Amino acid sequence: MLFGACGAVLLFSNCFKKANPTSEPRKTPAEEIVYARTHFTDSQRVAGEAIFEKTCYNCHDLPDVSDYTVHELDGILPKMFRKSKLNYDDAGLVKAYIIVNAKGE
Ligand code: HEC
Repeated sequence: MLFGACGAVLLFSNCFKKANPTSEPRKTPAEEIVYARTHFTDSQRVAGEAIFEKTCYNCHDLPDVSDYTVHELDGILPKMFRKSKLNYDDAGLVKAYIIVNAKGE
């Protein structure tokens, strides 16, 4: 009886693991906007803007981020963050600033 119950729990947890893969699915543009608004404070986004102005200006004029949709930025920013050699945290701040000021989804 006890054995049976454990087996059932084990089976269930195996199923559960399969239903919840560890790698998070990519966020949609709409989810990214919500994330940038809710997971960062105003002062973090201001800090992101300062890093943006300092770093992204090294190679070209600062882009007007309101010209780009989040969907477009998703294709551009990973490359630009690699070029900028920003660390993960700073890139997060810059991205939060950019996403909140982008053209929309
Ligand atoms: C090491 C140089 C370098 C740095 C630093 C850099 N960029 Fe760029 N960026 C480029 C080059 C070169 C292009 C031209 C096109 C390409 O490579 O995609 C470009 C193009 C762009 C474009 C236009 C892309 C398009 O297809 O319209 C945007 C937007 C942009 N960069 C944003 C940024 C942002 C934001 C940062 C800071 C996080 C940044 N860049 C930092 C070199 C750089």
